[in-house]
Amino acid sequence: MSDKKIALVTGANKGIGYEIAAGLGALGWSVGVGAREQTRRDAAVARLRDAGVNAFGVPLDVTDDRSVAAAADLIAERAGRLDALVNNAGITGGGPQQPSSVDPAVIRTVVETNVIGVIRVTNAMLPLLGRSASPRIVNMSSSVGSLARQSGPGGETSTGPVAVAYAPSKSFLNAVTLQYVRELADTNILINCACPGFVATDLNGFRGVRTPQQGAATAIRLATLPDGGPTGGFFEDAGVVPW
Ligand SMILES: NC(=O)c1ccc[n+]([C@@H]2O[C@H](COP(=O)([O-])OP(=O)(O)OC[C@H]3O[C@@H](n4cnc5c(N)ncnc54)[C@H](OP(=O)(O)O)[C@@H]3O)[C@@H](O)[C@H]2O)c1
Repeated sequence: MSDKKIALVTGANKGIGYEIAAGLGALGWSVGVGAREQTRRDAAVARLRDAGVNAFGVPLDVTDDRSVAAAADLIAERAGRLDALVNNAGITGGGPQQPSSVDPAVIRTVVETNVIGVIRVTNAMLPLLGRSASPRIVNMSSSVGSLARQSGPGGETSTGPVAVAYAPSKSFLNAVTLQYVRELADTNILINCACPGFVATDLNGFRGVRTPQQGAATAIRLATLPDGGPTGGFFEDAGVVPW
């Protein structure tokens, strides 16, 4: 087994996930670029390698059991362990998403990727994380899923428009994260949620105001937490996000 730290970032072919991979790579980590489509995955790996990152492609569709199992096998063969899992892949489900008129199929699709996908990938990777001296899990959430912010003053301005599939999928993800924290409380795995801020990516038609690099910063910090660092938290650049 190599001493080099190894991470898997899901949805790493573009956007914030790509920059998380680049940032971890710049810190000397070996990075598995989890991506479901070969051309996009190969292009991202090539770009990262050109930038000096020890990157390798991991075919990975988070909604597909077999794909996720094969991804775990690939990392087991390559490294024998995993030091950080960044569950970054996510979708909005498109819009508009008014509760009174939403197509239930949209909610199912979003939950399948943003919540069940995270559970599927995490469970496949837990045995590998268990072989790390300092395992970390980062779930890419969003402050749009913060119930406290949505119900507080200025909910509309601080958490974006009404989106009954996307926003609750992130609340669901936050709740699921805390269940893992409770189950794994006796282990050394640090598990946290990250909010990247409003970032210009495909996800929002590039309307975000932050760069993907800025959006990656909190997830990189949480993936590289020192031993004894926080667990069971929800963080953005400015500090703690209220649940
Ligand atoms: N952008 C923001 O302002 C913002 C704010 C808060 C939270 N976030 C969260 O940040 C994360 C990254 O979003 P982003 O803004 O970087 O969006 P993005 O540019 O659209 O990237 C999303 C990534 O997820 C991948 N993905 C989607 N479904 C997948 C699946 N079933 N299996 C594997 N990969 C899949 C996409 O792959 P393909 O290229 O194959 O589609 C892509 O690599 C998401 O969880 C999002 O909810 C974003």
